[in-house]
Amino acid sequence: MPATVVVGTQWGDEGKGKLTDLLAKDMRLVVRYQGGHNAGHTIVVEGESFALQLIPSGVLYSHTVPVIGNGVVVDPAVLLAECDMLEARGVDTSRLVVSGNAHLIMPYHYEIDRATERALGKNALGTTKRGIGPAYADKAARIGLRVQDLLDEKIFREKLEVVVREKNTMLAKVYNRLSLDLEEISDLYLNELAPRISPMIGDTVSIVHEALDAGENVMLEGAQATFLDLDHGTYPFVTSSNPTAGGACVGTGIGPRDISRVVGIAKAYVTRVGSGPFPTELEGELAELLVERGHEYGTNTGRRRRPGWLDTVMLRQAARINSLSEIALTKLDVLSDLEEVKICVAYEVDGERLTRLPYHQSVLHRVKPIYETLPGWTDDLSAATSVADLPDSAQAYLRCIEEHVGVPITYVGVGPGREQFVQFHR
Ligand code: IMP
Repeated sequence: MPATVVVGTQWGDEGKGKLTDLLAKDMRLVVRYQGGHNAGHTIVVEGESFALQLIPSGVLYSHTVPVIGNGVVVDPAVLLAECDMLEARGVDTSRLVVSGNAHLIMPYHYEIDRATERALGKNALGTTKRGIGPAYADKAARIGLRVQDLLDEKIFREKLEVVVREKNTMLAKVYNRLSLDLEEISDLYLNELAPRISPMIGDTVSIVHEALDAGENVMLEGAQATFLDLDHGTYPFVTSSNPTAGGACVGTGIGPRDISRVVGIAKAYVTRVGSGPFPTELEGELAELLVERGHEYGTNTGRRRRPGWLDTVMLRQAARINSLSEIALTKLDVLSDLEEVKICVAYEVDGERLTRLPYHQSVLHRVKPIYETLPGWTDDLSAATSVADLPDSAQAYLRCIEEHVGVPITYVGVGPGREQFVQFHR
């Protein structure tokens, strides 16, 4: 059975956690393929809220095997803390498998993330300061430490000594920061973290292929989103990995022919955290209303998200880049009680109408959204369980999105709970 990819289609925080949890019900494996604990997934099960950063959403089902693929960057201390948190709440984490090829986030990555953001001043990217970018930079520079290095003290020490020397020189000479202690890092990783992480390390490429060969359902869970993608996002205001569907192949070790379904998660409006262009951004009363009603504050960092109207120019681009087979639209309930709702269908720049994302990003900073305005609805959608429960104007809103994006909407989220969704076209 070929795999299903779940990918964010905007700037993250689309509610992927809830959807992956929903789809995980039918999955044998749920595999994270990129990013690290910069992600934050909230899943509400029977009124109880679980905030996950690293462990795939599937962990909450006893029949799924959660896998952290080779494309992920792992802070082992964070991973263990998350396991402990879940265990304390009665969730069994013993099935978790972590790729030996995944790279480790080290203490100097946090320092460098903070120092570079500070040095960028007003041009700062607004990173989560979790060391993600510096860890991927070391991976590309071939000086990263991998999860499997925790299994060999000699190799770990040899690599660490070289890297810590280089990082300390950089921290002191370039950023005027204090040096990090090699022995302290070595002791933490080798003596405290490695003994607990070692049993989780496995050959995740084989695990994924064996499941596919056995005809089992496999889900590849993306973190962040299409427009935070290192190659396809609004660079440099992006994350340092490839959340797009292509990244799912590299980050798990499968080929494109092993994927048959790509579910794009889109929020019924758009939010963005951190800096960067955002054509449909809203300000004022309506912005506050969406932020408060949608609880648009980062799961991990608590940062307020910037809100805006849904943008189908971006969604069309996301549909192409990820070859979306369907869209799951989340948080439709947040738009209730508005007199009218808007959908951006094109951009206007220098008197021209653009229906595609401009390739030159400085143009994206100047575009003005062209909106289609639809009547709103006053009904509370949170108890809707079928399309018939959705008011006509909400259905019209969904159909308008489908028309402009050219991809069917299958699921519609109407509240944070696991059961709060409507199947639209499935
Ligand atoms: P980094 O991933 O910490 O390097 O941050 C780079 C950019 O990606 C910043 O604008 C972050 O706000 C954004 N970002 C990273 N992870 C997430 C996420 O899970 N949701 C939304 N934005 C994110």
